[in-house]
Amino acid sequence: EKAGYDHFMLKEIHEQPEALSQCLAGRLDTTDISLDDVNLTADELKQYDRIQVIACGTAYNSGLVGKYAIEKLARIPVEVYIGSEYRYRDPIIDDRTLVIVVSQSGETADTLAALREAQDKGAKVIAICNVVGSTIPREADEVLYLQAGPEIAVASTKAYITMLMAFYMLAIYFGRAKDLLADEDSRRLITALKALPKQTQQLIDENEDKIKALASEFANQENSFFIGRSIDNAVAIEGALKLKEISYIHAESYAAGELKHGTLALIEEGVPVVALATQESVLDKTLSNVKEVKARGGVVTGVTLAGEREIEDLDYRIEIPETEELLTSILAVVPLQLLAYYVAVERGCDVDQPRNLAKSVTVE
Ligand code: M6R
Repeated sequence: EKAGYDHFMLKEIHEQPEALSQCLAGRLDTTDISLDDVNLTADELKQYDRIQVIACGTAYNSGLVGKYAIEKLARIPVEVYIGSEYRYRDPIIDDRTLVIVVSQSGETADTLAALREAQDKGAKVIAICNVVGSTIPREADEVLYLQAGPEIAVASTKAYITMLMAFYMLAIYFGRAKDLLADEDSRRLITALKALPKQTQQLIDENEDKIKALASEFANQENSFFIGRSIDNAVAIEGALKLKEISYIHAESYAAGELKHGTLALIEEGVPVVALATQESVLDKTLSNVKEVKARGGVVTGVTLAGEREIEDLDYRIEIPETEELLTSILAVVPLQLLAYYVAVERGCDVDQPRNLAKSVTVE
């Protein structure tokens, strides 16, 4: 059932173009998003002055991208909480708070407990989930299914990428409902969303061999760093989690601008640093951080847009297809997944069943 792939994780990485298509299926027209399964009128949406996103692990990381997208397009402040922390902080919720819980399995105990807490306090809860009929979507008020198909590998890939897609769709939907997103801007974003499945395929086809080769550079390392700004920072966090989880290499992610507030002390000769640099508006700033890393002997792999200018400080460069600045996360994460996978294989790790971890965490 691995369809000729060595591991479920690799199969699921390769299924991402199809998972994205399925996630979009029936939900887009030229200027609007229709989410039949989410029953939220424009008038109701206008009553919410705050959104709280609650999730664990990779699902939490998708919420960090969701925050950028929703705040940008719908101008509603978004707080992102780790499931296991939420209940213990006496969360501030009222009927003007909309809660979004995110879970591939729909069974994660901490996320479920947070959902119940939010409902008890009177909040409406939308669930973004993959497994149909699991506990979280059954208890939530509204459900947005990822439609990614079954995910078997412990390390989440196609669920994450479709979670990002779900957040982008919600952000456009909210932005339209609040009359903040002009027809033309919405059309541009939706056209770009529709292109993503094919672009993801192209990205895998063009880069897999290169990343496999790069993986041998990482395989003997003990430490690594992932940096980026704005949306790239959120993707860096997911890239570091993926590498830790399956290759057992220590990986830390930092907002690029935070390096000189402490972490730069750890950069020495030969330390691998992955720099996400897909955000044109902050590119020069990210590149100045890359310079700081290079000056201390770090080995830098940059993830940039295709067609971006020459960047001399990069030791390796992976190019993702061009898309809207807000949407790069979907493409930028793919090389990081492939890198984690090939590094883990090179190190002889049990990729689909990493030590100490379970696919679904049903204890708190
Ligand atoms: O099923 P869930 O999305 O609720 O799972 C949450 C986390 O346990 C999960 O994303 C975990 O972090 C992954 N193994 C990461 O690849």
